Parts: sequence; structure tokens; C-alpha cells
Amino acid sequence: MAQLTVPQASDLTEIGNTLGQWQSDGAPIHLHPGDLGWYSLRGAETTARDLRVWRTGGDILAVGLLDGANLLRLAVHPSLRRDDSLARDIQSDIESPNARVFADGAAIVEARGAAALCDRLTESGWATDEPWTPLQRDLSQAVEAPDMTVVTASAGDAEAWTSIHWSAFRGTPYTKDDTAKFTGRWRTMSTGPFSSRARNLLGYDNSGLPVAVATVWSAGPSRPGLLEPVAVHRDHQGRGFGKAIAIAAAKNLQQMGSSAASVAAESANTGAVATYVAAGFIPHAEVRDLRRER
Ligand SMILES: CC(C)(COP(=O)(O)OP(=O)(O)OC[C@H]1O[C@@H](n2cnc3c(N)ncnc32)[C@H](O)[C@@H]1OP(=O)(O)O)[C@@H](O)C(=O)NCCC(=O)NCCS
Repeated sequence: MAQLTVPQASDLTEIGNTLGQWQSDGAPIHLHPGDLGWYSLRGAETTARDLRVWRTGGDILAVGLLDGANLLRLAVHPSLRRDDSLARDIQSDIESPNARVFADGAAIVEARGAAALCDRLTESGWATDEPWTPLQRDLSQAVEAPDMTVVTASAGDAEAWTSIHWSAFRGTPYTKDDTAKFTGRWRTMSTGPFSSRARNLLGYDNSGLPVAVATVWSAGPSRPGLLEPVAVHRDHQGRGFGKAIAIAAAKNLQQMGSSAASVAAESANTGAVATYVAAGFIPHAEVRDLRRER
């Protein structure tokens, strides 16, 4: 029987390594060590606290990240995608209000490739949620040079990097307090337990102004790496910088030994999907999370 556990910060390297080994070409694009890496903005302790790990003996069978109280993003061991016994154990923990996954009420499960679990949840009344588009660029061929200057960001670039992300995703003024908080978190991530897998990229326009950012995450040599996140400053969108930073991201992952560059965008985010396609990423079939309303 798979036992649900909540790890310690000291377990994060093992969990990241396991998730890395579960990434492979041609397999569903599921929870990646880079997702944990980006989440580690919140610090190692919080990241560990928000993980749910199913084990038998010492072996990790499934890893879930509570990305918000109502969203569990899950990957299962590749050989156990259709394993009904593991699916039953996870379903029981997910649906029980006492099992340290969800409280009662609305909840979403992202479990791409976990076929047996998805079947069980569907039979149990979970409905499908909004569609996502996974995209991938194969890195076996040379990647062209991006049409902008892109550097690996260092600690001193924290404010420039975070202000671009803030502008793209929030669009509200980046106050002094916001800056102090976000740059602190960015530095936490950049020195945290997943940082050896990461490269933070910063792209400049022709005048030398930083306008685009991305972070790329390795899953290990010859495995697909992840882009998370990608953003262009709101005032500079629509000028090819998104395409350029996505190409630079792919190029960096290639240098890091990745077999492919993966990303997933909400299908409704047509600008993001179009940007990745323009950067040579191939869209895969849409995937949908599962949602419980009650
Ligand atoms: C998505 C994002 C990175 C795109 O950056 P951008 O600099 O505006 O994109 P580009 O100018 O490089 O455009 C690249 C391609 O996508 C197309 N595109 C961009 N935005 C589009 C939109 N809203 N609708 C349709 N097509 C769009 C462009 O026409 C261009 O296509 P082409 O090369 O075939 O002409 C930027 O809009 C952004 O930061 N958004 C907020 C954060 C975000 O959603 N990040 C991605 C999360 S997965």
C-alpha cells in the first residue's frame, strides 16, 4: 500500500532527482523538478510542507505539489501510470477530508499521464477543467541564435528580472515593498535546493533595456527541461521578444544537456501558445485537469 507522507526540506533533493528521472521524451509533460524549483520562491520549508509524496518502503511512487490550497499537481512513477492499486490509494487520500491533501470543497487535480487515477476520479464524478496546451521543442538539432541579447541573470539582476515578471503577470505598479519581497523570494529560489538545475535568463532590447525573462530547469542530461516562467514586460510585448526569449531558453537547455524544451500554457493564453509555436515548439494534444465542485 502507498503511504502518503509530507516531506522535510532535507528530502527535496531526493524528490527533485526522482521527478527528474520521471521526465522522458514522448512521455506526458507532467510535474517537473522545475515546477518545484519555481515554487521554491517560497523557501525550502514551505515547498516541502506543500508536497505530498506517496511511498512504499523507501520508494517514491507519486509526487504531488499543492500549488495553492485547492490545486494538486501530481506525477506518478512512469511504470505505474496504469497501476490501479496506486491509483486507488491516491484517490482515497485525495477524496478523504482527513488525509492532508484537500479540505472539503472545490479542488483541482493535474495528473497528466496518471491514467488509472484520472479514470478513477472521472468515475467518481470529477469533471474536466480548462484545457492546457503542452508544447515541446526537440533539442537534437542546433537551435538558432535568438534575435536579442540574452544573458544569465546574476544576483545583482534580481530587481530587473522580477520587475519584468511583475509587469507581465500583474501589471500593477511595482512598489518598494513588492520589490523587497519579490527580490528576496527570487534570491531564495536562486540559491535554494533546486538552483543547480536552473538558469535565470534576462533579455535586452537594442537600447540595452532589460525587457524579457525566463527561467529554465534541467531534469538531468538527455531528459526534457522546462521553461517556467517566461515573461515580457507589458510595455514591450508584441515586438518579438517573447519568441526570442523562448528560443534563448531552448538554446540554454540544449547547452545544459536537455533532450527537449517543454512548457505548458493555458490554451486560453493564445499569445503564449502563439509565441512558443513561433519559437519552434510543437503543440501536443490539449490536456485538462480534473475538478471537483463540492
Ligand atoms: C506570452 C508573452 C511572453 C509573449 O511575448 P511577446 O513579446 O508579446 O511575443 P512576441 O512579440 O515575441 O510574439 C511571438 C508570436 O506570437 C504572436 N502573438 C503574441 N501575442 C499574441 C496574442 N495575444 N494573440 C495572438 N498572437 C500573439 C505574435 O504575433 C508572434 O507571432 P509571429 O512570430 O508568427 O508573428 C507575453 O505576452 C507575456 O509576457 N505574457 C504574460 C505572461 C505569460 O503569459 N507568460 C507565458 C506563460 S506560459
